[in-house]
Amino acid sequence: MSHLLEVEDLSVRFETRRGKKVQSVQAVGGLSFHLDEGETLGLVGESGSGKTVSSLSLIGLIPSPPGRIERGRALFQGEDLLAMAPSRLRRLRGNSIAMVFQDPMTSLNPLLTIGRQLTEVAEIHLRMGRREARRLAAERLGEVGIPSPEARLDAYPHELSGGMRQRVGIAMALMCRPKLLLADEPTTALDVTIQAQILELLRDLQERMGMAIVLVTHDLGVVAGMADRIAVMYAGSLVETGPTEAVFRSPAHPYTRGLLGSVPRLDGDPNRALDAIEGQPPDLAHLPGGCAFAPRCPGADAECAARPPLDAIGEDRALACFHALAPREEPTR
Ligand SMILES: Nc1ncnc2c1ncn2[C@@H]1O[C@H](COP(=O)(O)OP(=O)(O)OP(=O)(O)O)[C@@H](O)[C@H]1O
Ligand code: SF4
Ligand SMILES: [Mg+2]
Repeated sequence: MSHLLEVEDLSVRFETRRGKKVQSVQAVGGLSFHLDEGETLGLVGESGSGKTVSSLSLIGLIPSPPGRIERGRALFQGEDLLAMAPSRLRRLRGNSIAMVFQDPMTSLNPLLTIGRQLTEVAEIHLRMGRREARRLAAERLGEVGIPSPEARLDAYPHELSGGMRQRVGIAMALMCRPKLLLADEPTTALDVTIQAQILELLRDLQERMGMAIVLVTHDLGVVAGMADRIAVMYAGSLVETGPTEAVFRSPAHPYTRGLLGSVPRLDGDPNRALDAIEGQPPDLAHLPGGCAFAPRCPGADAECAARPPLDAIGEDRALACFHALAPREEPTR
């Protein structure tokens, strides 16, 4: 059976100029994953690991220059998003594929009211008249927990709080009930009650409409609650992927173990960063030739001077590490 989305070997490079010096970094290198209808893939990894660049690449929004998709395919319902005519991609975007941007201002025009921006989506993609589109816009704002949605339609983005803007961004992405939602840290600025409401809304849309989600988040609690499968990125590549439950139960990659080990504990500081694992984050401009994680890896040895491929390790799981770790002991309760 073919998948709703099938990404193969996606590689993205940025070339930036500082004076005479050109710096070239591979932000994403050889990323492959797939997603089925109604499924959620949790994309995790520390800051700079390439989560946003990967998502933006799929919908043709990599700033170019300095960015460039070097190679790869991204089949969405059998059509390659990376090779598609820009006009076709624009039609899909906002309609069958929508994105919640990490920075909500990316999707909002500061000069237009919220209402104008939301109704525009409905007018273009759903061919609705002004009045019908406005009614739908208010309904969508209500869904994401915005109080008195009708009155909010006349507000400009700067009149809203950060959390409110984030919710408008989500409402906008969900306007046309996309088949695929790319959600980049959709609930980070929201308090827990609203976050729960939005996650519930997403789950409901998955069940009713079969929406699939690529969920980028730093919050492993959200991953645990939402994602069917998890994909762990490090320095632009996948290091481990598999069903969320299995990976949480027995993470095989030393980096995944580090990440899961830094999940905030109930008795600890809830704001502790997920990134708090030992060692320096990788400098993409000067990655070691072999395993990118080697400088931070407690298990690195001579073999790790080569690059570990992402190999299957059991059902629907894959790992890029020469020294697969034995499953961690189950904690005694
Ligand atoms: N506009 C840009 N110009 C130059 N380099 C860029 C640009 N955007 C991204 N990069 C490079 O791509 C890398 C990956 O960035 P990306 O935004 O995908 O990280 P991320 O995983 O989303 O991090 P975060 O968790 O902080 O959002 C960055 O470390 C940077 O080197
Ligand atoms: S390949 Fe080697 S350095 Fe890389 S994660 Fe595995 S053990 Fe560590
Ligand atoms: Mg990001």
